[in-house]
Amino acid sequence: TAEHGGRFDDHMGNEIDEQPAVAARVLDAFAGGIADGSLWRSLGLAGFDRIHRVVVLGCGTSLHAGIAIGRVFSDLGHLPVTALVASEASSFVPEPHTLVIAISQSGETADILRALDALSFPDRTLLALTNNPYSSLAREADAVIDCLAGVEIGVAATKTFVAQVMTGVAVALSGLCGSARVDRVDARAALEALTETPLRLDAALRGWSDSIPLLTEEFADASGFLFLGRGSGVVYAAEGALKLKELTYRWAEHQPAGELKHGPLALVENGTPVLAVDVGDRRLDINIAEVLARGGRVVRIAGVGPDPVGDLRPAPPWGPLEAVVPLQLFARSLAIRLDRNVDKPRNLAKSVTVD
Ligand code: G6P
Repeated sequence: TAEHGGRFDDHMGNEIDEQPAVAARVLDAFAGGIADGSLWRSLGLAGFDRIHRVVVLGCGTSLHAGIAIGRVFSDLGHLPVTALVASEASSFVPEPHTLVIAISQSGETADILRALDALSFPDRTLLALTNNPYSSLAREADAVIDCLAGVEIGVAATKTFVAQVMTGVAVALSGLCGSARVDRVDARAALEALTETPLRLDAALRGWSDSIPLLTEEFADASGFLFLGRGSGVVYAAEGALKLKELTYRWAEHQPAGELKHGPLALVENGTPVLAVDVGDRRLDINIAEVLARGGRVVRIAGVGPDPVGDLRPAPPWGPLEAVVPLQLFARSLAIRLDRNVDKPRNLAKSVTVD
């Protein structure tokens, strides 16, 4: 079993369970350095106001974490943010005063290490956000922050995603708090939301536990899944689709919900499962109605349980991190139902050191 043992026979189940504790560990380590900007300064990075652009770089789940983190820099810091798929980094046009945040659980992913060559332009600062501070990535970086997830054994990333988002957001908020151009009220509200995350992850674990087996039975024969979101929910839809593909070997795609009408709606027929991450943008209801009108079966992921009444609050800039919990639980549960090995999905490796 995982780090501290656990109630499941598979590592993935235990690693999902550990997420509230992992989030709390990140807060213990870093939250004290947010309001006074000292976490940012301790990394030896240039002053926040000298940064003109942020690039988040990663693969797979780590790229998703980067996209969530990037929204803090854009929404609160008003900086342009580019999310770069590491294997495609060679097309990036460098610009001065860019902070590159490379996110990698292992710190050994070949695509990431190669991307660093493409991104070696003057005036670049490289921050490595990794679960392995002794990795090749960490050695290349100007600054390193350990995301403190503990050893993750399941090939499909779960607790490292939560740890990466928590750590990256802490760093971003710390930079923002030390900056002249940021609204203090927004930064304080964001810090408060970050502090609540362990509780929300825990509530999501408990809130979804009864309905996941029912959803698993309902969708056991479905051959394809659509994941939708809007705004900060889109990247969680992407992560949900990725987990489902990795673990169940069923087709899954994600879309910003507004794109549905531009093509993917043609996929929807009687019984098509559609999982929608709801961050309170009411236009999502229109998209959901389109799905229902064609017989699609919608699961709304909002708040900390399947019945969100009384729990609707606007998502923080990095989105509803607790939404990842039901998405992970569902992918794992369906995979087990289909007799897949959830810790070692076919064709995949934990750390990919080839191109
Ligand atoms: C592999 C794993 C994924 C992971 C990706 C990036 O493909 O199967 O779960 O997200 O690599 O790994 P990294 O170590 O760079 O975060």
